[in-house]
Amino acid sequence: MVAKSIIVTGASRGIGRAIAIELIKKFNNNVIAISRTQKDLLELKQYVENDLKGKGKIEIVVGDVTNERVIEEAIGKSIKLWGKLDGVIANAGVLPIGKVADCNIDEWKRSFDINFFSVIVLIQKSISQLRQNKGVFVTVSSGSANKSYCGWCPYVAVEEPDIVAIALRPGIVDTEMQRFLREKGMELGMSRSEYDQFVNLYESNNLVPAERPAHVFASLVSSAGEGIDSIKHLSGKYFSWDDLEMETHREKVI
Ligand SMILES: NC(=O)c1ccc[n+]([C@@H]2O[C@H](COP(=O)([O-])OP(=O)(O)OC[C@H]3O[C@@H](n4cnc5c(N)ncnc54)[C@H](OP(=O)(O)O)[C@@H]3O)[C@@H](O)[C@H]2O)c1
Repeated sequence: MVAKSIIVTGASRGIGRAIAIELIKKFNNNVIAISRTQKDLLELKQYVENDLKGKGKIEIVVGDVTNERVIEEAIGKSIKLWGKLDGVIANAGVLPIGKVADCNIDEWKRSFDINFFSVIVLIQKSISQLRQNKGVFVTVSSGSANKSYCGWCPYVAVEEPDIVAIALRPGIVDTEMQRFLREKGMELGMSRSEYDQFVNLYESNNLVPAERPAHVFASLVSSAGEGIDSIKHLSGKYFSWDDLEMETHREKVI
């Protein structure tokens, strides 16, 4: 299979880092990794260049996904280095915890800019490349998403017959985001029973390792181009990484 060129946002740690590594290590694809923390992106680049030699390549873009110029730089780099952009995984996100009555509205707006509006900009700026290359756009969604939150995704799928757009929930994953929730969730207003569910998952070793959903994201986006027909029926839909429909995209665990 020809190497695909894929943008992964929020690749400095957690699920995004795991997706970037799966794309390079298991699917031999090339990745443009975006996040704000230069040190972590450089460490990832070094890991890929030293330990995954002969696999896909990586280039980094340090910046905030809410900055349009950062998105343009990432798309520009993909085209300059590898002649195209085949896929995007919109993973960067923050978890705003707090009660409506107490929350700081500017922080709330900021979280919408990161979690929602930056994804719209990402679609707008990448769409011409994705159209040309039978591309795939996957958003890292969440179990807490409701229909209106992820409702934009089916529109892209309806309007753009040449691309596949999917919203995928990664499960409850063992990353910094979960650590933050365990450390601050109660003081920021979570209910005791919901908070305890997350803590229990952690303490019983039942959080999902990032590599498992990462493989599903990487497999889906690697179907861009010649493999697009095999995932067309998934377009415009919302799935969980462990749904039956994702079985062929999960790595077999022996
Ligand atoms: N962990 C879970 O259980 C879980 C469950 C459902 C959905 N998710 C979703 O999965 C995605 C990844 O979560 P995670 O658990 O891996 O979280 P994480 O460990 O906190 O990582 C978040 C990533 O997003 C990047 N990021 C955040 N704000 C950014 C911004 N403004 N510009 C650029 N990059 C930004 C961070 O990098 P920098 O800080 O370096 O910028 C980091 O690489 C999120 O969208 C989250 O909502 C997670």
